[in-house]
Amino acid sequence: MKSDSTVLPDVFRICFEHYNKAKNLPTGKIKNPNEILREFDFEIKKNPADAAELFKDMQLYLKLTPNTLTPNFQNQLFSGLNQYALAGDWLTSVTNTTMATFEVSPMGTLVEKKLIEHMNRLVGWENGDGTMATGGSNANMISLLVARNKMFPEIKKEGQLNKRLIIFVSEDAHYSFEKAANILGIGLDQVKKIKTNPNGEMEPSHLEEMARVSLSVGECPFFVAATAGTTVLGSFDPIDRIHEISKKFNLWLHVDGAWGGSVLLSSRHRHHLKGIENVDSMTWDTHKMIGTGLMSSFFLTKHNGILRSSHNHGGEDYIFHESEIAEWDSGPSSLQCGRRSDALKVWLTWRSLGDIGIEIQIDNLFAMAIKAKEMILEYKELELMYEPSSLNICFRYRSVSDVNTLNKKIRHRLLEEGIFFINIATRKKETFFRLIIVHPDLNETHLYKLFSDIIRLGNKIKEETEFCMLKT
Ligand SMILES: Cc1ncc(COP(=O)(O)O)c(C=O)c1O
Repeated sequence: MKSDSTVLPDVFRICFEHYNKAKNLPTGKIKNPNEILREFDFEIKKNPADAAELFKDMQLYLKLTPNTLTPNFQNQLFSGLNQYALAGDWLTSVTNTTMATFEVSPMGTLVEKKLIEHMNRLVGWENGDGTMATGGSNANMISLLVARNKMFPEIKKEGQLNKRLIIFVSEDAHYSFEKAANILGIGLDQVKKIKTNPNGEMEPSHLEEMARVSLSVGECPFFVAATAGTTVLGSFDPIDRIHEISKKFNLWLHVDGAWGGSVLLSSRHRHHLKGIENVDSMTWDTHKMIGTGLMSSFFLTKHNGILRSSHNHGGEDYIFHESEIAEWDSGPSSLQCGRRSDALKVWLTWRSLGDIGIEIQIDNLFAMAIKAKEMILEYKELELMYEPSSLNICFRYRSVSDVNTLNKKIRHRLLEEGIFFINIATRKKETFFRLIIVHPDLNETHLYKLFSDIIRLGNKIKEETEFCMLKT
């Protein structure tokens, strides 16, 4: 019989076993909510559950969660988990403290500060500022808030009075800017979409035109976000040219590098972010390309002290005491009061790999992406949808009829089989697979099996459809 005192070593053991095995296991069959509700007892009871019962719950939780640690997980912009990231996460949990003040989180505060300094230097900012956020979406929202409070300082106190604030993002930008515009009271209608070229990169000439029109009708355009690594195509907006326009129209220039920010570490591929040192701020998720574990999201800015002046308000009566170390408190710069010390897992991973290790990892991913593209071109059944800019490989199973539905069906069958977990996207009315090359151990064997499975299922569904049509 399991007792409360043995539960932690046992949990540690099953987590460790899961971590070691998962890499070589399939992703697991997807289940619908009702199936899971039948398999797992979610009810909180009046009486306490005993250790044995809770341990079973934990084992089942591991079993019923899709395996994202395998190279076969290609569904999102992350896959796999560096062992030092896991170690850092465990240490963060076991120390259970908050980043609000230096006195309760001296180590967490300094680890985050030093990491942000290092990241800022990679961008080209010697005296920047930054904070970790609860996700890339949240970091994008921080960029809007900071920019708004800098450009219109009265809004912080008075609210958004009679001003039509306008922000520009490309039509391929992440949806988080619309969410942020909603949260900040800017409004969805004030998010103006800039056209992208056939590669999914923002058209600077359209930005210029939109900014001019906006000013001419009395609006207050104040912000533009370029994307470094778009969510679907993995494209990079031309930062240099967007910067010229942002200067001309006095726009805050933010780079959403949630996906592609890590490319800064690669001397071979860094050119994708040319001009980044000139922008005002940047989002960077290291849990994506570097594998530091969710969530590892950073908001970085070249404007030192701007986070504190934008976000600081209240708490002096009970938490932010006057003292010689008060300036080290990160709470006043944050949107949160209690905040997890997420930096440790990133810092440990980065220390373990060094800048050089990360550069090698990223260069290998780019090389694997080229292999994936070449393999697709060799299959007559598959069609490459876009020339890859980075690690997103967009392709579909060919069909003369109902191609969108067919590809959606193939994905569904793949997920039911439970070997691969890969996403599908629809852009300009065309549906296709979006393969993400991000797991450091992903190799040609995984890709060969993925493409073969897609072709096998595509052929099978086509046959089934033809058979049904013959019968009717
Ligand atoms: C370009 C881009 N920005 C922002 C985000 C949001 O990041 P997060 O999932 O960390 O909130 C994503 C997510 O995939 C993204 O692709």
